[in-house]
Parts: sequence; C-alpha cells; structure tokens
Amino acid sequence: MRQHFCRLAPFTLQLYHILANSWRCEVYFLQISITVKTKSALPERDAVRRGLHDGKMAKKIILGISGGISAYKSVYIASGLKKKGYDVHVIMTDGAAKFVTPLTFETMSGNKVVTDVFDPANETPTEHITLGQSADLVLIAPATGNTIAKLANGIADNMLTTTMLACTCPVLISPAMNTAMFENPATQANLETLRERGFVIIEPAEGMLACGVEGKGKMPEPDVLIGYVEQWASKEKDMAGLKVLVTAGPTQEAIDPVRYITNHSSGKMGYAIARMAARRGAEVTLVSGRTALPKEPFVETVDVLSAQDMFDAVTSRAPEMDIIIKAAAVADYRPAEVATEKIKKSDAASGRSIELEPTQDILGYLGEHRREGQFLCGFAMETQNLLENAAKKLVKKNVNMICANSLKTKGAGFAGDTNVITVLTREGMKQLPLMSKLEAADAILDEIMASR
Ligand SMILES: Cc1cc2nc3c(=O)[nH]c(=O)nc-3n(C[C@H](O)[C@H](O)[C@H](O)COP(=O)(O)O)c2cc1C
Repeated sequence: MRQHFCRLAPFTLQLYHILANSWRCEVYFLQISITVKTKSALPERDAVRRGLHDGKMAKKIILGISGGISAYKSVYIASGLKKKGYDVHVIMTDGAAKFVTPLTFETMSGNKVVTDVFDPANETPTEHITLGQSADLVLIAPATGNTIAKLANGIADNMLTTTMLACTCPVLISPAMNTAMFENPATQANLETLRERGFVIIEPAEGMLACGVEGKGKMPEPDVLIGYVEQWASKEKDMAGLKVLVTAGPTQEAIDPVRYITNHSSGKMGYAIARMAARRGAEVTLVSGRTALPKEPFVETVDVLSAQDMFDAVTSRAPEMDIIIKAAAVADYRPAEVATEKIKKSDAASGRSIELEPTQDILGYLGEHRREGQFLCGFAMETQNLLENAAKKLVKKNVNMICANSLKTKGAGFAGDTNVITVLTREGMKQLPLMSKLEAADAILDEIMASR
C-alpha cells in the first residue's frame, strides 16, 4: 500500500489570525507550502503488525469442536480463518466427529486434525502440550454443555480438554446448545467459572434452534466468530493500559415528541476507531448517537440521543481518559423550544419556523479542560475549504489532532465503507489514501500513538 505523505516542515503552515471583535469574526490566513513525497508508508512488516493484510499473519489458531449440531458451521470458520492466513489446527471431540468428519476439517484447514491424546500418528508424543503451548488463540465453537462443564472443572479426558489444560493463550468459548441446556444453572455456573478464569464467553444468538425450540443457544454465524478471532489474534496490543473514549454517530435534536433534527452520519467511522482501539488492547468507551450498527464487542457503549446527552456522557468521563477521539456528527444547533405535544399540521396554516439555539461545544469544552498528557483528536467534515477550516479548528479548539475529510471527495463521507482523511497536527499534516474505514481507523490510531 502506498500513500502520499505531505509534511509541513518545518511547520511551513503559517497560521496568522487577525482577531476581530468576536471569535466568529476571526480571519485566518493560511500560507501553506507542502512538500509532497511519495513513500511506502505502510511497509509490509508494519502492515502485518497492524493486521491490515489478512493472510500474512500466520498466527496459530486452535479451533476446538465439540459434539453439537452446529459443528457443521465450524467448517466455514476453519475455511474462513485459513483464507485470512491463519494457521488453523482443529481438535475434535469424539462427539464432534459424529457430526462432521475430521477429513472435512483436515481439507479445510490444511492441517491434520487431532482427536486422540494417545494417537501414535500425532506429530509429537505429547501433542496436547505442543499444540496447547504454541497456539496464539483458541476458539471452541461449538462448545457443548458437556465440554464447558469439563473445562470449568479441569477435566482432561480427551484431546480438546487436555490441550485446554496445557494452553496459556486466550481462549474464546462459543456455547451452543438447546435453550434449557444453556439456561440450566449448572451450565451458567460453569460459564461464570470460566469467565472468572479469563476465558472469553461469546454470547449465543437467539432464534430457531435445530431441536425446534425458539430461544437463546444458537452458535453465532461463522463471520461473527471469525471477527472475534481477528479481534483477539490479529493486533499487537500497543494500546494496552490506555483508556480511550470515542464518539460516533449523529445526534437527534427534538422538535416535538415525534420529530427531530439530525444528520446523515452512519457512525461507521467512530465504530471502526472503537473496534481498532479495542483490538490494539485499549479499554474503549464508545459514546454513540443512534445508529443502525450492531454493538461493538469488547467496547463499552453508552447510547445517547441529543447533543446535550453526548456532552454530559463525554465530559463526565473525559477526566479519566488518555485519548479522546470525537468522530460523532454533533448538531451545532437545536430547537430553542421543544413542543411538549405533537405540532399539528393545522398549526402551520400561517407558515411555521423553528428558532434554533447553539448546542454546547463538546470539543471546545474538552480542549479547554484537556489535562496534561491527554490526547484530543477531533474530526472536521467539510464541504469547502477543508484544510483551512480544519487548521482553524485545531488551534481554536486546542486539540492535538484533527482528522479532516471532505464530503466532496470520492470515497469519503458519511454512509460509505471508505474514507479519505487528512491528519493535521501542530507539526504538520498527512494525507492518507482512500482506505476502508477500518484501515483508516487503524492509520489514525497509528498517528495518535506516534504523536502522543
Ligand atoms: C443430534 C444431537 C445434537 C446435539 N447437539 C448438541 C448441542 O448443540 N449442544 C450440546 O451442548 N450438546 C449437544 N448434544 C449432546 C452432546 O453431543 C453430548 O452431550 C456429548 O456428550 C457431547 O460431548 P463432547 O462435549 O465431548 O463433544 C447433541 C446430541 C445429539 C445426539
């Protein structure tokens, strides 16, 4: 991947401002001389570290399969992980082998499937130790009630449970069973025990189960589980120990009980940043306006509606945060008065206008109250004079970084899955190429980590 690298060095962005009577009348002159160098900004090694090039990581994943009806879905997990470049080693219980043959998994994973601790054909005589200790991650999917019970009690009576006793890497468990089996206090207590010991329990989905019962207990779809594996296996945890707050989505400003003013923000950029920060080990809080996006795993989400809700949710949490990234599209104005009853059409006979008042400036507040060592990153979405407006925002809001993107650039903007971002700091600016929002999120985090 190549990108254009524009650096204003030695900060040849000369920013003069002539202060008029109020800040609204500030006039900024930007004299920008940009040196454009083209370099491979993401050398292969770096890309692999960042997990952007699926397929080059060769992390060793154990896929444990126990005897549940959803074992057939695990074939897609094995195949999906292999396609993404993971080194997939399948361990099956005898029960699992009654549902799908080891040969199927062997073909899909490209590795020998192990089923028996004592099999002389195992690569080493103590294969449970060799495999268990060399794995980067384990996913047990489906995890039957029986296997969960054994793991919770340290029972090691087959290849899967024995390997689990020997293994020291993160273990993800995807329970899948009939609702009554799942809700049985014994299963719940076993899952709680595993949770306390640091196993990651993936909540089963709800729906029609193979046994004909409607309820909780379905194994999530393979793509969801592959996402969990990527979450845990693919990133260097360079943000471990950092508390990160991300805002995302639009706000809604009520006009009356049924109507509101909002914008086109989908929340995708903020959610991508939250996901990547979590993958990199950060403790992430996502303050989100209403979006159609599913909840991000491993992220604490605080749902808000209005700009005021977002202000309250963000400012109350801000002091403890190391990094705050404001990707939400917050309304600048809201109706000065909110009607308590639905405004009727008949009321508009003589025309109707809505008086607006400014909302509280969240980024401005955070800039004013930014504590020593706290990194503040804002977004500037513009339709004209992108860089000038972004540079003004950088200074006026006292932030460390602005990610500027223009609605008019092809591939950038609200609802799509790509973005084109220019990162501005006081040291200079960097033009990132067209990227997926997930890649852009990762690149923004790289910039933040390099600048703080
Ligand atoms: C058709 C069929 C489907 C089953 N599906 C499940 C299931 O989805 N989840 C589960 O926990 N057990 C299920 N069981 C029961 C397990 O196969 C049984 O408890 C077995 O002992 C599990 O052994 P294992 O955990 O070593 O694979 C099923 C059994 C049968 C016969």
